[in-house]
Amino acid sequence: MERLKNKVAIITGAASGQGKAASLLFAQEGSTVIVADFNDEQGRKVVDEIAAGHGHAEFYHVDVTEESLVESLVKYTVEKYGKLDIMYNNAGLVKMRPIGELPTDEWDFTIRFELNQVYYGCKYALQQMEKQGYGVILNTASTSGLIGIPGHGPHAASKAGVIGLTRSIAVDYGPKGIRCNAIAPGFIPYTQQTEDLSNDQFINMMLQVQPIKRHGQVEDIAQCALFLCSDESSWITGQAIAVDGGHTAM
Ligand SMILES: NC(=O)c1ccc[n+]([C@@H]2O[C@H](COP(=O)([O-])OP(=O)(O)OC[C@H]3O[C@@H](n4cnc5c(N)ncnc54)[C@H](O)[C@@H]3O)[C@@H](O)[C@H]2O)c1
Repeated sequence: MERLKNKVAIITGAASGQGKAASLLFAQEGSTVIVADFNDEQGRKVVDEIAAGHGHAEFYHVDVTEESLVESLVKYTVEKYGKLDIMYNNAGLVKMRPIGELPTDEWDFTIRFELNQVYYGCKYALQQMEKQGYGVILNTASTSGLIGIPGHGPHAASKAGVIGLTRSIAVDYGPKGIRCNAIAPGFIPYTQQTEDLSNDQFINMMLQVQPIKRHGQVEDIAQCALFLCSDESSWITGQAIAVDGGHTAM
């Protein structure tokens, strides 16, 4: 049985990495997927791949750091499909540096790219979901938001903010039929964001701090996202689930 049959999902940052993996899996499980990203070329390729597997998806160009554009994304989806079941705020762009060395504009950039946009996605999804009386929000945090990791500075602050926002939404909107959770991925090599870090030395160093001695893959995150967005997790809200090979358990 399809686990997201007849659902309508927006996935941001869906042109590559974790967002792409989730788009392919959600479509395979019966959801219509709005592939939302500012990378048109890659985003359209994801839609083509979904269509080739007989799934239903469409690309929507958006820069999620612009509030009005996120509002339009939700409005477009609801006008076309009549509802919004799932809002997966996954897009992100990382800047990492110890705080003492950090120019203030890099701080502002990271908060805008990693925290403000999650607030926009949640806000407009909640307005629609409240009218419907149901809905699921999933936000991408990071293990950096749960434990101290050297040099993660503003990234850690923004992802901890995502977790706080997630809990707060869960508490306010649970009684209205809306669930909100976060995934905290560990290090996933070879995504666009981690290309620079994806060398043998760094990857081996990360394996030392994980009890499960293999690299994380975008599909590991997508499987957890599927569970958290499906009715199988209907009694789970306000949680930040680490999908990290056990890193945060060490
Ligand atoms: N890869 C990791 O190790 C790791 C670890 C923890 C958390 N994360 C988080 O996972 C999420 C997905 O990252 P990924 O690893 O799949 O990286 P990725 O770079 O492969 O994917 C990110 C996608 O988001 C899109 N994007 C970025 N900013 C956008 C914007 N303003 N508007 C629209 N689209 C935008 C990019 O075009 C890209 O398609 C991010 O929130 C990231 O912070 C990644």
